[in-house]
Amino acid sequence: MAGQLSGQPIIILDKDKTRTQGREALGYNITAAKAIADAVRTTLGPKGMDKMLVNPVGDMVITNDGATILREMDIKHPAAKMMVEIARTQEDKAGDGTTSAVVLAGELLNKARILVEQNVHPTVITKGYSLAQVKALEILDELAIEATDDVLENIARTALTGKSADLALEPLVELCVKTALSIKESGRVNVKENINIIHQRGGSIKDTKFVHGVVIDKARAHKNMPKRVEKAKIAVLDTGIEIEKTKVKSKVNITSSDMLSEARLEESKLVEDRVEALAKSGANVVFTEKGIDDTGMHYLTKKGIFAVRRCSDDEIKKIVKATGARVVSKVDGVEEEDLGYADVIEERGAGNYKMIYVEGCKNPKAVSILIYSGAEHVADEVERALDDALRVVGDVIEDGKIVAGGGSPEMELAMKLRDYATTLQGREQLGITAYAEALEEIPKGIAENAGLDAIDIVAELRNAHSKGKKTAGLNVFTGKAEDMLKLGIVEPLRVKTQIIKSATDAANMILRIDDILTAKETGMMDVNPEHTADYYDGIQAPDVGED
Ligand SMILES: Nc1ncnc2c1ncn2[C@@H]1O[C@H](COP(=O)(O)OP(=O)(O)OP(=O)(O)O)[C@@H](O)[C@H]1O
Ligand SMILES: [Mg+2]
Repeated sequence: MAGQLSGQPIIILDKDKTRTQGREALGYNITAAKAIADAVRTTLGPKGMDKMLVNPVGDMVITNDGATILREMDIKHPAAKMMVEIARTQEDKAGDGTTSAVVLAGELLNKARILVEQNVHPTVITKGYSLAQVKALEILDELAIEATDDVLENIARTALTGKSADLALEPLVELCVKTALSIKESGRVNVKENINIIHQRGGSIKDTKFVHGVVIDKARAHKNMPKRVEKAKIAVLDTGIEIEKTKVKSKVNITSSDMLSEARLEESKLVEDRVEALAKSGANVVFTEKGIDDTGMHYLTKKGIFAVRRCSDDEIKKIVKATGARVVSKVDGVEEEDLGYADVIEERGAGNYKMIYVEGCKNPKAVSILIYSGAEHVADEVERALDDALRVVGDVIEDGKIVAGGGSPEMELAMKLRDYATTLQGREQLGITAYAEALEEIPKGIAENAGLDAIDIVAELRNAHSKGKKTAGLNVFTGKAEDMLKLGIVEPLRVKTQIIKSATDAANMILRIDDILTAKETGMMDVNPEHTADYYDGIQAPDVGED
């Protein structure tokens, strides 16, 4: 039987797939991943530049944040997508260091390419990288310093320097520390869950402020409602307070004007009763997802209730979380135990800039930051920078460990890894040395972006570290190797360990690939030409008066 097959090709692959193998495959992947790293490299460090990203409909984002740049770039290449993944993981786990993680991964791949060209097998390199990762994490642990509360401002400052937040650096540093500490709960700081960041048009970044509570970008439903309510008992509804439009079609023959006014009276009486029941529950504030019509407004105003209509899903969630209210689906179904509580609810601002402040909430961990800015793009970027800074302050409150910044840990790791490499017998040495070189690209990048001579700086830093100056890093403002701890340039240990972990894992994953099988793009699915919107299986689409 076997003889019959001889000479015949056995097709095991779909002929529509393209296949790239071995070095060529590795080359493709590395080129793509490196291109991504190069794209963000120029934003690294306090003197890094920003990127302007414009989507097909003209929406624009101006940012320095690695994760945001990659998210907005709409990347298609699979290996490049892995780099985007690194940034996302870094953001999730540590909140900062996304650019560094991507730059390091890119460099690990770049150094690997050089080794492969010298006939070193990729598995030898990945072995070396894995050993280097374990060692690097050990060294980082040794370098870590116990944090005290007074370093939190420095942590926030390092994360904010060089971002749009520079416009009001010191007030924002203070704000981040205060905000992060205010939500600390059994040693944990959950930024995502507890902090609401709201943009207020007008004013300047310097006016950005902390609010102990929630701020909603809405105004009260009617000007005759109270502007401020103390000891607010809050009802949250997902139904409107209005005359109901009947859902069932029915005909009522009205033969006289009396009958008409009677019908209207009945409808409005229904609303009055509901508002009466609502007020009986003790509610003096109402937030609803739906509408409030004139009738509803009339009775609510009469009862002195502060009402807000058409709240978004997100706003309702915030109010519920902050005040402990329960969402009720019937206006007259609200019971006392459904009500949330806040010390004060007040509408502040004028004209189009009104906002509702819900302060002194039942849940004291609900806090907000109000960013003032004349330009939405600036506010967006300040929000991203604040988010990074809040996260790093949170990391340090949670872990209690910091390391020096300014490229100093990377230099120390590089030096120690080179020493470590010499203790090994095999070729993995090469991988570990390459890893050390890749780490030095971080201080190099920071130096290049500051317009300094990267080679000189790295030489100076190597010299300092060889003399035992473990915290020597680059002061971008003087262009010299200086003690980062003395300058207060510090970062959470977690950011650095996560950079090592995610960059190594991604680089190793890409290095292990030796075969790429790509399905051909088929473009549009084959569609029966008759299955068009206008003409579906012989049914002509009705004319709805649109072009
Ligand atoms: N004043 C400073 N002098 C020298 N280096 C600094 C200074 N402030 C911050 N750095 C360094 O800059 C690097 C961080 O740069 P940057 O914030 O641009 O990138 P990232 O944190 O890696 O990524 P991203 O902030 O985009 O998520 C860190 O290595 C940090 O120690
Ligand atoms: Mg940063």
